[in-house]
Amino acid sequence: MSKPTVLVTRKWPAEVEAELKIKYDVTFNESDVAMTIPELQKAFQNYDCVCPTVTDPINEEVLSVENKKAKIIASFGVGFNHIDLDAAKKEGLVVTNTPEVLTACTADIAMTLLLSAARRTGEGERELRSGEWAGWRPTHLRGTQVTGKTLGCIGFGRIAQATADRAHFGFGMKIIFSDPYMPSDEVINKYSATPCSSVEEVLEKADFVSIHCPGGESTYHLMNKERIGMMKKGAYLINSARGDVIDNDALIEALKNKTIAGAGLDVFEGEPELNPGFLECENAVLLPHLGSASIETRIAMGMRVLENMEAYYNNKEPGDRVA
Ligand code: DGY
Repeated sequence: MSKPTVLVTRKWPAEVEAELKIKYDVTFNESDVAMTIPELQKAFQNYDCVCPTVTDPINEEVLSVENKKAKIIASFGVGFNHIDLDAAKKEGLVVTNTPEVLTACTADIAMTLLLSAARRTGEGERELRSGEWAGWRPTHLRGTQVTGKTLGCIGFGRIAQATADRAHFGFGMKIIFSDPYMPSDEVINKYSATPCSSVEEVLEKADFVSIHCPGGESTYHLMNKERIGMMKKGAYLINSARGDVIDNDALIEALKNKTIAGAGLDVFEGEPELNPGFLECENAVLLPHLGSASIETRIAMGMRVLENMEAYYNNKEPGDRVA
């Protein structure tokens, strides 16, 4: 029997590509440049399975293309706000993602951002590299102490809990959170976490606000001017989730006017375009979407895609089916 044909939209770790080659008739996007809408449409017409990543817009326009051959979208990444799930369901496509394997890695980057923003490591490194370091002195680049402060999580799913784990057990932080889905008592007790009745309550109480909700319509600009204005003056906003949860212009204004102390950002609305205003904010630590970017995690994500495909092609329910 011939192997299913598969199109992979970006370069994947070599170990995963090798496995894919053994099991499938696979085509890679050797250029590793993001595919255009017409190219993605062709992929759905010409392959049994399309494997996109979180930066490919698998929207209605792509999914409604005539004469589709594809039956499954096996996405590389936990987030699936780049896929129009309603359109996928309408077209009878199965959709899978890669949860769990990137939880620790992404929580590590949330803590990296939190610590870097609080302790002004970006400013320090820029100073050193530009040859402007005038030596140790008592008032030089004083940041904010992290230990013992309050971390407020907006959303308390897997990645938020892993961040809370690091913050609570590593830095003695108090954990508060808001989430429309209440976690179990076991989870709450583990981190001695305090549930808040609203996002606003978290914003008013937290020293560090960390975004952990999904992106997409329901959370678009959740952190708008008004809500950013509810944060404490000395507080920091950390985002390792999705860029469009924050109104960039409102955040830049708050950073410039110092109505909050700083921000640590791994994701941006409209990325990889960066609102140039961020570059004027010394109090912002900026990373290029590195949340899951460890060698081990990226291999695990790819292998998880393979597991989902394997289940599908063996007439089993894929473990990570989201549509
Ligand atoms: C995801 O998987 O959704 C991340 O944003 C990429 O690491």
